[in-house]
Amino acid sequence: MLPGATIGVLGGGQLGRMLALAGSAMGYRFVALDPAPDAPCGQVTPQIAAAYNDQDAARELARRSDVITYEFENVDAGVAALLAEESYVPQGSALLYTTQHRLREKAAIEAAGVPVAPYRKVGSLAELEAAAAELGLPCVLKTATGGYDGKGQAVIREATELEAAFRQVAPGAAVAGTPAGEAGASTAAAVPELVLEKFVAFQCEISVVAARSASGEVKSFPPAENIHVNNILHLSIVPARVPEEIQRRACELAERLITGLNAVGLLAVEMFVTEDGELFVNELAPRPHNSGHYTMDACATSQFEQHVRAITNLPLGDTTLLTPVVMVNVLGQHLEGAVNTVSAYDEIANKLGVIPKLHIYGKTESKNGRKMGHINLLCKDTEDGLSWVEQSNLWRN
Ligand SMILES: Nc1ncnc2c1ncn2[C@@H]1O[C@H](COP(=O)(O)OP(=O)(O)O)[C@@H](O)[C@H]1O
Ligand SMILES: [Mg+2]
Repeated sequence: MLPGATIGVLGGGQLGRMLALAGSAMGYRFVALDPAPDAPCGQVTPQIAAAYNDQDAARELARRSDVITYEFENVDAGVAALLAEESYVPQGSALLYTTQHRLREKAAIEAAGVPVAPYRKVGSLAELEAAAAELGLPCVLKTATGGYDGKGQAVIREATELEAAFRQVAPGAAVAGTPAGEAGASTAAAVPELVLEKFVAFQCEISVVAARSASGEVKSFPPAENIHVNNILHLSIVPARVPEEIQRRACELAERLITGLNAVGLLAVEMFVTEDGELFVNELAPRPHNSGHYTMDACATSQFEQHVRAITNLPLGDTTLLTPVVMVNVLGQHLEGAVNTVSAYDEIANKLGVIPKLHIYGKTESKNGRKMGHINLLCKDTEDGLSWVEQSNLWRN
């Protein structure tokens, strides 16, 4: 599908916006569907402002698009089916179905011959206690669906914390011992599906964004080393500070997964690296990923261009890293400082030989903890990029 064709995007957030910006430069047209008027993507491309489960709006998106993609995972199954019928959705909906649910996702990863941390399905406090006894503490309890940025999960270090963790992750659910009948049972919410995972004492977290085109060509970007603060991605450091052999294995593993899952488009693979150099996959995202934003300024092809290439079945772009880079996220509380720093003569950057490239998402409301933009710090050595983050003094909170 050549430039000139229209790409419909389900979702109008920052990922849709950066996709549309990259794809427009290649000559594609875009249209986005997002309920929020003036969504980040809608500022750079025509937008249908309607709810995601609005069938008429989905039909209009299909009518106006030659090919459809999505920028988030929780696409309504009915809408996905409708779009596949009325337009062309090369990514399909099978992988969405898999990654919408942590248990299905883990089963699919294991089926591709790739290791995940030991885990158990949990449906009640009694099952949680049994699972914790089997796996051994510490563990992490997570909702199977709907979690992001660490929401919907709790770390359990002591057996005495099991009940509190259960109440936190499954609020309103009855716990064992609640008297049956009357008030207790009728007000208790159903327990959402939960998964208990063994806590991995990782040396670091890395991620690989891989791409696969409709014709089956596969390429991966260099692994990013990811540092989270309050469960939100703070830094991606590339090259990751792990031996090259581990980087190679991480890419192989991501390529094995995207091939095994028969995916088209991008697949972001989050992994834990242990002290002994073992890799465990944590989770998958079938879309552009925050930890792949470094590619926008530091690679021969960005993850967004690569996604467009994959879904339009162009040859995939070269993924060579052109320079070491540190990506730092700009949250609501960092926005003003980051804009001011990058908009004035930056002595720290000059001294360190760092080139900061600021990307702003155009969200109408800035909130604490909300992703408002990011800075790619191009540098000779990632230590210099990290020094810039340290010395600029903007990321203290
Ligand atoms: N099993 C685990 N062992 C150690 N740390 C974990 C584990 N699961 C999650 N974490 C930590 O919590 C973060 C968020 O968990 P993740 O499953 O990726 O959920 P989210 O959907 O919120 O990104 C991870 O990046 C990691 O730092
Ligand atoms: Mg994650």
